[in-house]
Amino acid sequence: MSTAADSATAQTSGSFLRGRVASFLAVAPLGVWTVNHLWNNLSAFRGGKAWEESVTDYSHPVAQMFTGILVLVPLMLHTVWGIGRLFSSRPNVGHYPMWENVKYLVQRLSAIGVLFFLAAHIFKAMIEPRLRTGHGERFEDIAWHMRHHPPTLIVYVLGTLAVAYHLANGITTFAMGWGLVSTKAALRKSEWLNWTAFAILLAMSWGSIYAMWLAGA
Ligand code: HEM
Repeated sequence: MSTAADSATAQTSGSFLRGRVASFLAVAPLGVWTVNHLWNNLSAFRGGKAWEESVTDYSHPVAQMFTGILVLVPLMLHTVWGIGRLFSSRPNVGHYPMWENVKYLVQRLSAIGVLFFLAAHIFKAMIEPRLRTGHGERFEDIAWHMRHHPPTLIVYVLGTLAVAYHLANGITTFAMGWGLVSTKAALRKSEWLNWTAFAILLAMSWGSIYAMWLAGA
């Protein structure tokens, strides 16, 4: 006969497993793909043709579909789990204003920023151009908007700031959660990893935005 304690244990191990899966998917393939996507966007410095070849053109529709599934399904799963975490955990930085608690709060605030940014970005940059014109976004379009449409520029600057923080800090919490970082010395080093990753991701994002802004003149 199963008891209330059994069902509580089953529930806890279920949510533990979901947490593990969501955490893993956030790093691979999602985090890896994000870094690759930011890297590809830097080809904006080499002009429109190079950017379109790296970012929006696919050799075959099947390759495009495969990439879409490989990225969008893990993103959806992580997002559903993340929204659940936002409602089920409470930041305690008001009572204990420690550095780690501040980072915990910012991780959650950045998650909300990433959520809104990705909803707008996926629709405006991926879905809408294909529905309207049958192909991916053109470089001249995005470059023009970066230069002449301030809301686009602001959304990209703030959205990529949120992504850079969320992923960089997420890599650190991932390393802690999976037992890769446990000693005090390793924790100190992970702080370096956190801020170095943040600086690199932000430089890649804002670098691409700057290249588009220049090209849109
Ligand atoms: C490009 C998209 C995203 C990437 C690469 C990403 C990556 C990550 C990583 C690596 C972690 C750390 C996992 C761990 O500590 O084991 C994390 C945590 C988290 N993510 Fe995301 N994420 C993305 C989008 C989102 C979205 C759209 C949400 C929606 C709300 C979200 C909500 C969260 C939350 C709440 C946490 C903290 C969970 C916790 O520590 O309890 N993420 N994310």
